[in-house]
Amino acid sequence: MKRIAVVTSGGDVPGLNACIRAVTRTALHYGCEVLGVQRGYEGLIDGEFVELTSRGVAGILRKGGTILGTARSERFMTVEGREQALRQLRAAGVEALVVIGGNGSLAGAYKLYQMGFPLVGVPKTIDNDQYGTDVAIGVDTALNTIADAVGRIKDTATSHHRAFLIEVMGRECGYLALASGIICGAEMALIPERPATLEQVAQTIVESYRIGKAHCIIMVAEGWKPGRRVLMEYLCNEKLDHKFDVREVVLGHIQRGGTPSAFDRLLATRMGVRAVESLLDGSGIGKMVALRGAQTTLVDLAEATSRTKPLPEELLRTAEMLCR
Ligand code: F6P
Repeated sequence: MKRIAVVTSGGDVPGLNACIRAVTRTALHYGCEVLGVQRGYEGLIDGEFVELTSRGVAGILRKGGTILGTARSERFMTVEGREQALRQLRAAGVEALVVIGGNGSLAGAYKLYQMGFPLVGVPKTIDNDQYGTDVAIGVDTALNTIADAVGRIKDTATSHHRAFLIEVMGRECGYLALASGIICGAEMALIPERPATLEQVAQTIVESYRIGKAHCIIMVAEGWKPGRRVLMEYLCNEKLDHKFDVREVVLGHIQRGGTPSAFDRLLATRMGVRAVESLLDGSGIGKMVALRGAQTTLVDLAEATSRTKPLPEELLRTAEMLCR
């Protein structure tokens, strides 16, 4: 193989640059040229390639975001869009592609592979819902960011004897709310996977006050229904005997930015190296690089994109026992 390309697609996460750097330098090490695709699948369809050199990827290991830019592409979901992308790849002399993406982007990658183009996927998402891998690039940094923010909120919550609703990302998956609930010592974690009534939340706040806690921290996943806003209204408007003042914080996109943690830098680097080596020896074509236990491995894209990863039962049980 003489020339490969790398693309980052979907929502950004910390660690993308570390992966781009590893892909570039590994490919160059094996005598293969590397093109970066700008603006995700949008740039692939429009033929926006840039040559990546060893010096060009210097100093990006600890940078958040992606030097290539990224996008959520509606066009790539169409056959016409993917056919156009194929034409661009062939015109640029690209023989294989590394797709660094989450659920949606890897499903798109699988479709491109089915149309005959050799590629390998690398999982990234802060939501940790990518099936087939224990963890994806970005999860660890996002959790560290949340832990830092919740620590700060807890300080002020305790000083004022307040309850806080803290919303974290996860449209369809409660992993970040659940895991941060556990590592931050929250009183409750509200997640899409487990229903909880407004009354139950109020009861948790009442109980925290009754047993003498100086605060009550409730982690709320973005996708929890009926949602943080409805809950806040309920807690503020009903004549509830919870005695705590309630405040809300939405952590939002700060969870997606910042310098990647040591774990994410290493994971992104290992996955980038494995992606290129497995493209070059053929073993990774049509597959996704995964971490299982302490080892990197390869999983068929067909399997990795067939469903989303459920929450680990062990964490659910742990939160049930300890988040109260
Ligand atoms: O899928 C990753 C994610 O960060 C979700 O947790 C969140 O709901 C979504 O992306 C936000 O997307 P956007 O940045 O496009 O608003």
